[in-house]
Amino acid sequence: MNEQKWVRPFLKWPGSKFDLLSVLEDELSILEGKHLMEPFCGSGVVSLNMGHRFEKCIAADANEDLVCLLRLAQKTPELLIKEGMEVYARGGKKDAFDATVVEYNQEVSVKRRAVLLLYLNRHCFNGLIRYNQKGIYNVPVGEFKQILAPWDLIRTFTENSQHIEFVHSTFEKLLSLAKPGDVVYSDPPYLPIDGKTSFTAYHKPFRLRHHVVLRDYHRELSLRGIPNAISNHDCKMSRHLYSTSKYLAFEVQRSIGSKTRGKAPECIAVFTKPALNTKQAMLT
Ligand SMILES: C[S@@+](CC[C@H](N)C(=O)[O-])C[C@H]1O[C@@H](n2cnc3c(N)ncnc32)[C@H](O)[C@@H]1O
Repeated sequence: MNEQKWVRPFLKWPGSKFDLLSVLEDELSILEGKHLMEPFCGSGVVSLNMGHRFEKCIAADANEDLVCLLRLAQKTPELLIKEGMEVYARGGKKDAFDATVVEYNQEVSVKRRAVLLLYLNRHCFNGLIRYNQKGIYNVPVGEFKQILAPWDLIRTFTENSQHIEFVHSTFEKLLSLAKPGDVVYSDPPYLPIDGKTSFTAYHKPFRLRHHVVLRDYHRELSLRGIPNAISNHDCKMSRHLYSTSKYLAFEVQRSIGSKTRGKAPECIAVFTKPALNTKQAMLT
């Protein structure tokens, strides 16, 4: 991986597609279209780095605070940095972190929640963004020798994100707007790897039935001539779910911050124009 080539996201993101950008670039380069639609944008790293191939990217996510944060970084970075610095000044000790969690969970202004989320993201355990069923953020404090202040990364994000429209939306709502000329790339919360539970509750639980609905959207898009791809773990369920696509399995070296976390099995399923076996595939 040529790290120099890619723009790092300003958010810490476990399982980030930053580690896969070279593979994604190869796979997305065969999908032709003017606009990239990304229904699960997370840190925004894919649209941020694939922008040169498209006139415009529409990057959406169901987490409203996250989308607001990405928009603030794109449109009013200096204000975000000023407010972010004030919150960072609280430091990373457990008491300060816990008080910020309480404040975040009680806050009604989305803009303020977005600023608090910026602090939580770098001070919590592993950069997780996780909520319980009631929408309450519930990640514990992390243990760090040093906490990175993302001010320069925010400024770089601003410079490199002007081709992106950040949208607060569920994947269903966004994908129902897709039209010929679009290319769709989905990076949903991971499926569990072969029965082992995995972390999936970024926003609201993303269950197997949601993965099936998403796969059906992708199949339907390809029938309408809208090329698209989905990322996931490489696991039995992915192989089954995406059996009618071109399926690429590979391993990626994972790291969070400076720590290497070993290799993880990943896949990309590419759905293009209907092949001969489409009818049969739709029956599965
Ligand atoms: C695997 S992460 C995307 C990571 C991103 N590709 C990156 O590398 O930064 C999945 C994202 O899907 C979002 N999400 C979860 N359920 C969703 C839904 N129903 N519709 C749209 N987004 C959803 C989560 O908020 C999370 O940001």
